[in-house]
Amino acid sequence: MSMIRVENLTFSYPSGSDNIFENVNFQIDTDWKLGFIGRNGRGKTTFLNLLLGKYEYYGKIQSSVQFDYFPYPVRDKSRLTADVFKEVCPQAEEWELLRELSYLEVCEDVLGRPFFTLSNGEQTKVLLAALFLNEGHFLLIDEPTNHLDRKARETVSAYLKRKKGFILVSHDRCFLDGCVDHILSINRSNIEVQRGNFSAWFTNFQRQQEFELAQNAKLKKSIDNMQKAAKRTSVWSDRVEASKYGSGPVDRGYIGHKSAKMMKRAKSIEVRQQRAMEEKSHLLKNLETVEDLKIKPLPYFTDTLASFSYVVPMFDGNEVCQPVSFEVKRGERIALDGKNGSGKTSLLKLLMGQSIEYRGAFSLGSRLIVSYVPQDTSNLKGFLSDFAEMNQIDESLFKAILRKMDFTRTQFAKKMEDFSSGQKKKVLIAKSLCEQAHLYVWDEPLNYIDIYSRMQIENLINEFSPTMIFVEHDLAFRNAVATKVIQIHKK
Ligand SMILES: Nc1ncnc2c1ncn2[C@@H]1O[C@H](COP(=O)(O)OP(=O)(O)OP(=O)(O)O)[C@@H](O)[C@H]1O
Ligand SMILES: [Mg+2]
Repeated sequence: MSMIRVENLTFSYPSGSDNIFENVNFQIDTDWKLGFIGRNGRGKTTFLNLLLGKYEYYGKIQSSVQFDYFPYPVRDKSRLTADVFKEVCPQAEEWELLRELSYLEVCEDVLGRPFFTLSNGEQTKVLLAALFLNEGHFLLIDEPTNHLDRKARETVSAYLKRKKGFILVSHDRCFLDGCVDHILSINRSNIEVQRGNFSAWFTNFQRQQEFELAQNAKLKKSIDNMQKAAKRTSVWSDRVEASKYGSGPVDRGYIGHKSAKMMKRAKSIEVRQQRAMEEKSHLLKNLETVEDLKIKPLPYFTDTLASFSYVVPMFDGNEVCQPVSFEVKRGERIALDGKNGSGKTSLLKLLMGQSIEYRGAFSLGSRLIVSYVPQDTSNLKGFLSDFAEMNQIDESLFKAILRKMDFTRTQFAKKMEDFSSGQKKKVLIAKSLCEQAHLYVWDEPLNYIDIYSRMQIENLINEFSPTMIFVEHDLAFRNAVATKVIQIHKK
């Protein structure tokens, strides 16, 4: 067991105006299975890069372990998987490789195939296994779930549970719960370490927020009362002061004394008020405000928006899955569930009117307006305002939605290529929420999105009931919003 100690860490990107970390202090044990959480753009990936020594910073990071990062950049993907293994973990014995692959339910014949021919999920598993075979290294695992289907997430989560000595960044609640024993959270104003899994952390955090909210309400009430009292006192003291110069014989000395006393009282109320305000600013420091999102779906004039009858998408003349039959009805939220590579994105592309090769019968309602969130964010470049204009969406509405999803105003001045992964995905979701459509087609919308916004989107869907069809491997999300699940079986 050894410790990683972080002392007075302060960091900002050379091109950024904001400090990502400011005088941060905490320590973690290298034996832990540590879940690392926090809203998008709070600096999780940045912190992992600081551990790796990629950037200069102020303060101290002390540790005696060597860090490895996932996703590991494989230089030449045309090499055989066995050679990639040797590159990542030269010391490992073959039997160890085979053992890890069997834990991860990967067939050992992948070793003899070029690495690029492995599915994204298989590549993730192989690299994780290889990295864990480097003894004594401490693993920094940054969002491994994004290419994993639901079953693969279960397998990898169970695999990580057997291991120790890693930091895992993930926004998938069930995945985290399956494998971590401590949580490191970047909150609004501090960084904290807690024992337990994600659900335990979340229950505590909510309790703390409720407590802070109640304290805040009490303080607000007492400030209101003090303000009223101060106003009354100042009106009285003005009146008394004015009566000093009234007509008739009066004791000016007595009245002057009385008015001075009242002024003093008003002053002391003001001081108390100031103190109460200060106390208030210490509270609510970590409160995550999650404002409600809105969407304006267009009503479609018939009950059925689209229908699939024995549809099979094809690749190079090969069928990719067993025939799929279902209808998309008004108000339904349909989840497509299936393994990586089973043709889910191809089915969604049919709904987008894109030409893909398929067999079977497919029909789409006439003049159907569809809003689409694609899986990939790599095309996002430049400023948000130009993006809004190019996509003909209302810029102020677009930015208001992003603010609700925890974007700060400083973020609007940055170019999208400098956004964190989750911030990029939020851009695509906000665009879709700005669009009035009959049908919302979302392809893995939650990849990289933080947990609060996942819940925010769940609430939105349940409140406005847009007609939707989506692919999403986050089980908690699917359970919360889907009205129907269509299973796609690989051929
Ligand atoms: N190369 C860069 N140059 C300038 N700013 C950057 C750069 N990379 C990230 N940032 C900014 O630093 C902040 C933290 O980004 P980081 O990628 O560390 O967040 P994160 O917590 O990993 O988010 P996510 O959950 O979305 O992955 C963000 O505001 C982002 O815009
Ligand atoms: Mg990140």
